[in-house]
Amino acid sequence: MMSHATLLTRDVEVAAALVRQGELVAFPTETVYGLGADAFNPEAVRKIFEAKGRPLDNPLIVHIAEPAQLAALVQEVPETAQRFIDRFFPGPLTLVLPRHPAVPDEVTAGLPTVGVRMPRHPMAQAFLRACGIPVAAPSANRSGRPSPTRWEAVYADLNGRIACILQGDRSDMGLESTVVDCTGAEPLVLRAGAVPLEALQAVVPQTRLATPDDVRQARSPGTRYRHYAPQAQVILVDTPQAAQPHPQHAYIGLASPTHPEAFGLCCVCPDVATYAYELFDFFRRSDAAGCKRIYAQRVPRIGLGLALMDRLERAAAK
Ligand code: TXA
Ligand code: MG
Repeated sequence: MMSHATLLTRDVEVAAALVRQGELVAFPTETVYGLGADAFNPEAVRKIFEAKGRPLDNPLIVHIAEPAQLAALVQEVPETAQRFIDRFFPGPLTLVLPRHPAVPDEVTAGLPTVGVRMPRHPMAQAFLRACGIPVAAPSANRSGRPSPTRWEAVYADLNGRIACILQGDRSDMGLESTVVDCTGAEPLVLRAGAVPLEALQAVVPQTRLATPDDVRQARSPGTRYRHYAPQAQVILVDTPQAAQPHPQHAYIGLASPTHPEAFGLCCVCPDVATYAYELFDFFRRSDAAGCKRIYAQRVPRIGLGLALMDRLERAAAK
């Protein structure tokens, strides 16, 4: 494990050269920051798990600059997947597809599938183009911590453990990509995310949310772990009136408490997209402020609300 300081840069060429040398580079995307390594270098990919403290049975998403790179990663592109590619690439959607045998087991955790995503963030695209190779990347946080939406959050978690952080702006969605398995007749959403289920169903109507009974869900081990969690206790409430005001309590939600100033931190969001954008950063700020409890208001499970509720429930899980 490295112990020297992590290089901070805005230069995508410098960052890409490090990836090609087998080093780890954190980079911005429109969802959250990713921690990237050369997807075809098993030794480099193993460093990701070490730096994050990530369980080895949790597969990584491979990031590409253009759909042409799919050929090296997958055995075939099913018809449903092609429709999602045409509509949502580049964007915050990860497709789980039959893997090409050349993809290292370190990336797929030995699964017969591989997750692939083409981000639309301009710096992510420039970086991936400069790399010229597919880049395996989970979110750039220590395992179990909230995903980073700013480079400063990556630095707080991983300084000294990775070679480089590409300093982009704040992630504009703040929630991870939607992961959809396209290996069967009906596409299955394994992880709700930045592309709403309804938007997928508008393209492929038989798309549905995976249930714990779905065999393919069992293959997405990431959904088993406690995740996205701050150090503070997270309590979900239906209304701000159910949140107990205290200087060491934080509140986030759509509706405002009667006395917002009675909370150590308070974030009232005008809509669900803003709530999603703020959530992980709010978790980190609450921890930094020493808050013991975070009250988070529930939202309806429609549109982005489905992914937001998923993250809130995982953060609140014991
Ligand atoms: O927005 C995102 O998806 C971010 C950015 C960096 O792209 N990445 C991200 O990666 O959130 P990570 O590793 O934190 O979450 C990836 C999720 C995990 O739940 C993992 O189990 C699942 O995707 N996954 C990856 N490959 C898979 C596969 N072959 N089959 C099923 N699930 C897979
Ligand atoms: Mg993650």
